[in-house]
Amino acid sequence: MFGIRIVFSLLFFTFILDQVDVLENGLARTPPMGWMSWGYYMCGVECEKGNDKCLNEKLIMSVADTFYEQGYQEAGFEYIIIDDCWAERHRSKRGQLIPDKKRFPRGMKFLAEYIHARGLKFGMYTNIASITCMKFPGSKGYFEVDAKTFAEWDIDYLKVDGCFVTENYLKTAYISLGKSLNETGRPIVYSCSWPYYIKFVHDNEPDVGKVAKYCNLWRNYHDVVMSWTSIMGVIHFYVENYEKIAPYHGPGRWNDPDMLIFGTGALSNGQTRVHIAVYAMWSAPLLLSCDMNKITPYERKLLLNLNLMAIGQDKLGIMAKPYMTDGDVIIFVKPHQPLKGNAYPAFSFAYVNLDIFERDIYFSPKIYGLNNTDPYTILNVFTGVYIRNMTAFESMNIKIPGHDVVLYTFYPL
Ligand SMILES: *[C@@H]1O[C@H](CO)[C@@H](O)[C@H](O)[C@H]1NC(C)=O
Ligand SMILES: *[C@@H]1O[C@H](CO)[C@@H](O)[C@H](O)[C@H]1NC(C)=O
Ligand SMILES: *[C@@H]1O[C@H](CO)[C@@H](O)[C@H](O)[C@H]1NC(C)=O
Repeated sequence: MFGIRIVFSLLFFTFILDQVDVLENGLARTPPMGWMSWGYYMCGVECEKGNDKCLNEKLIMSVADTFYEQGYQEAGFEYIIIDDCWAERHRSKRGQLIPDKKRFPRGMKFLAEYIHARGLKFGMYTNIASITCMKFPGSKGYFEVDAKTFAEWDIDYLKVDGCFVTENYLKTAYISLGKSLNETGRPIVYSCSWPYYIKFVHDNEPDVGKVAKYCNLWRNYHDVVMSWTSIMGVIHFYVENYEKIAPYHGPGRWNDPDMLIFGTGALSNGQTRVHIAVYAMWSAPLLLSCDMNKITPYERKLLLNLNLMAIGQDKLGIMAKPYMTDGDVIIFVKPHQPLKGNAYPAFSFAYVNLDIFERDIYFSPKIYGLNNTDPYTILNVFTGVYIRNMTAFESMNIKIPGHDVVLYTFYPL
């Protein structure tokens, strides 16, 4: 088979991809945004005792209502995804998965309709082994049956975990489950945990290029937990592995650093800004996982900041390149699709200070490939204020408080 070789070059960003080598199901042209149950609700099977971590249809419907009524949908939040622990312990006599009868009494097709009626999309979960990570029925031996069932339920997104299997099995199983999903004819975003398990369970280097051939998004690193240490771990991992994984990142195929931990009280406002700024700069999937009622007014303001969301949803989907400076400041650089009729791309810069002390940096944009000969106008993305105009050949000092970030978008004038 021959491929069309695309040499994709945006100044310092030169990626070469063989076109036949990526999944082209037309889905996830920008990174998925939404909500997923696991991070906060985990295996929320205990609903009786007034437990606030109960994973049931009421919860899923309330997230759909919140997205619809409180502006999240307009900001781009779209997918509502049920993670593990949604099924009965046994398949039906015909071998099908059955939603838990107490927690999902009206079934999944009902939920799909409820979600679709609000212009939103519905996602579900399975595992590639014969049981899920939490020991509910898994899809091994049932790829076709399960793909059909999910398609009949009208889901739009499937997360497929990779617990309890061998490395050899991983190499083929995700490919065949993807084929079964494709054969249903229903467009279903395919989220794979495949590379994570290769690297951290089987202790081998994953072939991300191969994963990008079969999956719309994939997990590279550990589950996020509700702490700043966890977010720092994620940032360090992706910075260290940038050269290996960034070339495969783009429309239809995304590295997935796992959920946002908004609404959990785990982060200061500065740390929250770092978390969301870095995810947006990466064009990472933005999946909340929390009780939507616990999102603070400030967090909500960030999630509904359209200049910020536009960075993450930029059509080119380039993963921002990290540049280390002295001290603990990382400068992330992201070129954007030029606006219509404009030869000069806009750029976003995130100056991330992972130290606890304030840092002062001297910044010269010309080093990063800005090529407009006229000035740029600079938007402070968090304040919404255009702070100044400057050419690429001028410089400025930027102060970044400890555990915080300054985020600017440079628009060519
Ligand atoms: C500026 O850079 C972009 C991206 O590399 C390129 O497409 C464009 O042609 C350049 N414009 C000029 C006038 O050099
Ligand atoms: C199935 O795969 C083909 C070939 O890659 C693609 O053109 C088509 O859009 C896919 N269909 C679905 C429903 O994913
Ligand atoms: C930047 O330049 C534009 C066009 O000349 C002007 O309208 C705008 O006020 C300037 N912005 C700042 C912050 O100086």
